[in-house]
Amino acid sequence: CGIVGYIGNKNTQSVLVEGLKKLEYRGYDSAGIAVFTPEGLQITKALGRLANLEAKLDGAPLVGNAGIGHTRWATHGKPSDENSHPHTDGSQKFSVVHNGIIENYLDLKDELMAQGHTFTSETDTEVISHLIAREYNGDIVKTVQKVITLLRGAFALGVLTEHEPEKLVAVRQASPLIIGIGEGENFIGSDIPAILEHTRNVYILNDGEMAVLTHDAVELMTIEGNFISREMIRVDWDAVTAEKGGFEHFMLKEIHEQPKAYRDTMLGRIDNETKKVQLPELKMTEEQIKNIRNVQIIACGTAYHAGLVGRTVIEQLVRIPVETDVASEYRYRSPIVSKDTLVIVVSQSGETADTLAALREAQSNGAHVLAITNVVGSSIARDADDVIATLAGPEIAVASTKAYTSQLIAFNLLGLYLAQVRGTQTAEEIAHTLAAMQALPEQVESMLEQAEAIKGYAEQISKHEHLFFIGRGLDYAVAQEGSLKLKEISYIHSEAYAAGELKHGTLALIEDGIPVIALATQENVLEKTVSNIKEVKARGADVLAITYEEHVAPLLKSVDQAFAIPKTLPLLSPALSVVALQLLAYYASLALGHDVDKPRNLAKSVTVE
Ligand code: G6P
Repeated sequence: CGIVGYIGNKNTQSVLVEGLKKLEYRGYDSAGIAVFTPEGLQITKALGRLANLEAKLDGAPLVGNAGIGHTRWATHGKPSDENSHPHTDGSQKFSVVHNGIIENYLDLKDELMAQGHTFTSETDTEVISHLIAREYNGDIVKTVQKVITLLRGAFALGVLTEHEPEKLVAVRQASPLIIGIGEGENFIGSDIPAILEHTRNVYILNDGEMAVLTHDAVELMTIEGNFISREMIRVDWDAVTAEKGGFEHFMLKEIHEQPKAYRDTMLGRIDNETKKVQLPELKMTEEQIKNIRNVQIIACGTAYHAGLVGRTVIEQLVRIPVETDVASEYRYRSPIVSKDTLVIVVSQSGETADTLAALREAQSNGAHVLAITNVVGSSIARDADDVIATLAGPEIAVASTKAYTSQLIAFNLLGLYLAQVRGTQTAEEIAHTLAAMQALPEQVESMLEQAEAIKGYAEQISKHEHLFFIGRGLDYAVAQEGSLKLKEISYIHSEAYAAGELKHGTLALIEDGIPVIALATQENVLEKTVSNIKEVKARGADVLAITYEEHVAPLLKSVDQAFAIPKTLPLLSPALSVVALQLLAYYASLALGHDVDKPRNLAKSVTVE
């Protein structure tokens, strides 16, 4: 979900609505705003996209000098007008927007109902507004502090009351929140793009902290009420960085931003004189690196798929055992970790609740946790012992593209750095790989020029209901990401299979005309992959191979079509082959007329478990 809040003399309604537009990627099944108007606190909300809210507001604008807004991704209670935020209490004097989950809300709701409170929604949030109304003692700040002690769970809150119209209260407890500082006006936001149009000066709240905003001042304190001082951060993104920049969709724009994202992520980390990797941001000492006995990579979704590539990269370069797991599983399987385990958490947003919980689980067991993340001020970045930032810039489309490929770059840099320290690769080998990495951005550019060829193929597959991706080794890891991408935005069902495993069951599903996309870049297993291609061909599959130019001609004896990618080293091939699969998913979704950037049922950043 997304939160925005404003106190100041601009048109509050439009500051809130424009802010929510920037956050729509965080959740978009309903939206609402509350504005403190001369007639009192007034709330307007609407099911569905923000446009519905705007239409309602067009008919009846809310005019005032303070307000809060929210865009929702349903957790407790279905998407509906009633369940949208802001929520209020029976007296309509208090208004709350909330991200996260209140775990004990049912108990609290029972208690409040027994005391005569009537509820109009199924949400956990409404409980907060009733508690604030019940506890209110003439001081909204103290009241909110008291109410927080009654709540269990994760939350970021924005609170307004008609009794103290000159104040906006914000709380952060395990759900992100930032404060924007203006002149004669101040802002809150769950994310920086929400306020970037108005100010670049922000405070990032930590867990257990709150802020009280007036027109002219921002007071920061702990939720216990102890005042704190914090350094203001100046955000150097420009507003257009977060806009679509001429492309039809954010996803296409972000696919095209990959050459830059690769370059930026490598920038300053490759010493062109010594041909070595340098990661000065790492706090891990050489001693600690030499003592690493095993690595665990933990993440969700697309970041997990980057972790599957990371496993092979680190195992090949450093020769230490690596396992990759999804965060929601890792956390509850009582992971075996020692102080010599390096745990790597991977997260674009740095806010994924499952990944954050896994990070804490690993830390509490004594592991050193390194985060690979795209959001430097994020919860994961701040809690990890070490951080390698992917410098992909803000990613807006729900389906991750440039963040994933930047994670691949980060894994290769990290693997090479560990190899450098532990002496598992020679200086020549490292220099050779770095040169190949530096060639990747141009290679991606050349692939993007061939997007039309993929578009044609995407239009063919968009007519099918099922298809397969197969590959071996790193090609299998990329197959999994390609399959996820396609499912996420085109809703076509696909399965990614280790090519050698097909014959152990899934081959039964291959029938006449079914499309099979075979990734065939890993030359050490190319012949084996070709045998697997023949197995599906013999059963009527329609096969597209993704391979290097030099293999196209021989492969065309076994496949129906082939798409050539530029030649690179085996460990780097995912950073190229996946681009073809991203384009495939994009154009298939486009052909089917789906909302590419905002696929149904999914959210960009999932801050609940
Ligand atoms: C959500 C998104 C996925 C993403 C996953 C992990 O489920 O829809 O696209 O891969 O979260 O996100 P993270 O920000 O931790 O990389």
